[in-house]
Amino acid sequence: MLLAIPDILTPAEVAACVADIGAAAWVDGKETAGLQSAAVKDNAQLPQGSPVAQAWGDRVLDALGRSAEFVAAALPHRTFPPLFNRYAGGQSFGTHIDNAIRPIRGTAIKLRTDLSATLFLSDPATYDGGELVVEDAFGAQAVKLPAGSLVLYPASSLHHVNPVTRGVRLASFFWVQSMIRDDGARALLYDLDRAIQDHVAEHGQGTRHAVELTGIYHNLVRRWAET
Ligand code: NI
Repeated sequence: MLLAIPDILTPAEVAACVADIGAAAWVDGKETAGLQSAAVKDNAQLPQGSPVAQAWGDRVLDALGRSAEFVAAALPHRTFPPLFNRYAGGQSFGTHIDNAIRPIRGTAIKLRTDLSATLFLSDPATYDGGELVVEDAFGAQAVKLPAGSLVLYPASSLHHVNPVTRGVRLASFFWVQSMIRDDGARALLYDLDRAIQDHVAEHGQGTRHAVELTGIYHNLVRRWAET
């Protein structure tokens, strides 16, 4: 499932983030790439330990926690501390797949990447190219979202970033280990959750059907979740 979630950050938060990270020192993006991806990766990143990256990574994590849509779609067990990247002057990231396991710096945790996420930080009118292209069962989908919006997609997908031929594309990116490892099972839970929300919006919280369906949702999570 590929899902766009609007307005994870407010316009004021995006502006403050862009000002802070724009003034920070950037390094070659190959720092976090595996062997295959290093060969096709051409961008800049904030160093993982940089105070600006950590501070804004925490702000992004807070924002994700407040997003009912993100929580429902990702059912996160662990979220990787968000990183930040920058593409300009024709830079791109060729077709690759993200590493399956990501150690989290300063901890003993090795996160399994079930979902990949990109939070767009630049106004799409200010740059050309830079689409995130994700290959899934329905073909290749090109994603270029307003600043502050997030795309979530299965980390098992081949993907690339088209060359940025004008302007600058800033983004935050990270991975989620979901409580529900299987993408199909997670998508079913998301659909069921949305159907329950629609039912409740029309008929209210207290109907017998709302209670039963909510029970089925939780019992499926109980059956499938790893925590
Ligand atoms: Ni990637």
